[in-house]
Amino acid sequence: MQIQRVLILRVGLLLLLHYTSCIKSQLSPNFYANSCPNLLSIVSSTYQSLAARDNVVSPSTLRLGMHDCFIQGCDGSILISSTTRNAAEKDNMDNDLPQQAFDTIENIKRAVESSCPGAVSCADIVALASLEAVRFLGGPSLQIPLGRRDSQTSLAANVNGNIPRSNLGGDQLISLFASKGLDVSDLVALSGAHTIGFSKCRQFDFRLNGQDPFYDQQFVAQLKGQCPLRGSSNVVALDPSSPFGFDNSYYRDLQNNRGLLLTDQALFVHPQTKDLVNQFAASQTQFFQAFATSFVKMFSIGVLTGTNGEIRNVCNRFNAS
Ligand code: HEM
Repeated sequence: MQIQRVLILRVGLLLLLHYTSCIKSQLSPNFYANSCPNLLSIVSSTYQSLAARDNVVSPSTLRLGMHDCFIQGCDGSILISSTTRNAAEKDNMDNDLPQQAFDTIENIKRAVESSCPGAVSCADIVALASLEAVRFLGGPSLQIPLGRRDSQTSLAANVNGNIPRSNLGGDQLISLFASKGLDVSDLVALSGAHTIGFSKCRQFDFRLNGQDPFYDQQFVAQLKGQCPLRGSSNVVALDPSSPFGFDNSYYRDLQNNRGLLLTDQALFVHPQTKDLVNQFAASQTQFFQAFATSFVKMFSIGVLTGTNGEIRNVCNRFNAS
């Protein structure tokens, strides 16, 4: 009886492993080789012309990619607009993403549709545009597996607890990332995305009361000048030395107690993440390699493949609506 139970458990486990590897193997860099052979060049040229006109585009598009994956998987659910019947993810306060990021995806989708109608998912366009954002600002270039399909649901209520808030401690960050299948190395590498872009004062001004031992006091004085009123929407660069350069200076900021968000600085405080911060601060090559690996991993969270989901006609609406 005992042996039978062990056998059933083993077979069950093997089937589960087989199922997960099938999902992964359905994503492939050549997924659109026949259905849209020029996909990468269409995405790249459209992206570059948009990003060159507006420097909000790259940081906000990369952040949108992360938010898509962390809520219900990388399935384009972040892109859906709310209707009178449905409050969508996008409108949950924890998202608070600039409209430029959504417009970027919609513009790329339009360009792709005119060459390859009905072939390419919005979820894949989000992944490719996020990669373009990294590349456009000098970060690593890599191949990303494709073949994601688009969700047919997007609920504002699903956002709760899935997007890390800027007041979390190291343990909480580690466990939130673990709940997405991402380990400590992914957490430290992906947080390096904060080498670009900006944060509103209200995300960190609770740290400006002089009580935070891990905040450089000169930096605090400077930030008080940039954020004179508590809770404001003024913006400050996450990595002030190069807000539009994808490099490893973010990690040196942390070594100098100049991590803007509490969650940034937590990586240099927590014993499980501190060594990696030091390694990435010392070697941009090592950071880029780790970022590339973790980026592909992040973009495989909860993907829909095969006949699941749909290929949306436009990214902000389900086909059935
Ligand atoms: C580790 C947990 C994380 C926390 C707590 C966090 C939190 C935040 C916050 C509060 C902002 C400022 C938003 C605003 O005020 O508008 C921000 C910006 C940003 N985040 Fe994160 N984030 C995290 C991880 C990530 C990851 C994994 C990525 C991508 C791989 C990412 C990419 C970005 C980018 C590019 C910006 C700048 C956006 C812009 O300038 O429009 N973040 N993040």
